[in-house]
Amino acid sequence: MKCVNWGLLRLSELVTLTVNGNKYTAEKGQYILQVARAHGIKIPSLCNLDAVEPYGACRLCIVEITRGTRKRIVTSCLFPVEEGLVVETDSPRVVGNRKMLLDLLLARCSENKVIKQLAAEYGIEKSSFEKEYWTKENCIVCGLCARVCEQVVGVSAISLVNRGITKGPASPYLESAKACIGCGSCYYACPTGAIKMEDKKGYRYIYNWKIKYRLQKCKVCGIEWAPEKQLEYIRKKWDLPKGFFDVCPNCR
Ligand code: FES
Repeated sequence: MKCVNWGLLRLSELVTLTVNGNKYTAEKGQYILQVARAHGIKIPSLCNLDAVEPYGACRLCIVEITRGTRKRIVTSCLFPVEEGLVVETDSPRVVGNRKMLLDLLLARCSENKVIKQLAAEYGIEKSSFEKEYWTKENCIVCGLCARVCEQVVGVSAISLVNRGITKGPASPYLESAKACIGCGSCYYACPTGAIKMEDKKGYRYIYNWKIKYRLQKCKVCGIEWAPEKQLEYIRKKWDLPKGFFDVCPNCR
């Protein structure tokens, strides 16, 4: 006879919510943004990735919810769905607030392609703030790079430092990030291309964290395919034999 450990079974509770007038079923505890994405409902977002905990930094994912007679604006990446929730993703109030956020972002990142394109989608060609306040930043301080490094890669080589207008991601003491393994997850996760990474002449450079690591050369095809430091980190973590990464995945 088979024994079932009921303690290990987690039965998900389903709830029904309304988004833009249409009814959807979702698991209780899912966030509004997750449900919207699953159903192809577009909500702009910059600081959210499924692989990491939501943080609510960019605020672009705001939506308007109705509970009983009360309406309010919430960040959809952080707000869990519940039975009977009514959500509007593009109400006049949401669009007005989102435009203000994009206006601010555009003043900070006045030459960033991603921000410019998002702003243009809302009819904003240039920031309404005085030009003297515009900067050419690319980083929106969403911290996604640091969260990916900590929660996905597990090395916490970088973090957000300082406060106010000087806040931003950085390596410890602004020196070369010794814990960085050069995997480039921060580069791939960054929504605005603020992290500069390059593979050049046998080395990987991540300029933001001042690192330069030699790339592993495949013993079969000769391609330089990943930083040696990253491969050594994986080899030790998974207790793989020495030389396991001598050949690239294609040749293996
Ligand atoms: S995606 Fe929700 S605040 Fe950035």
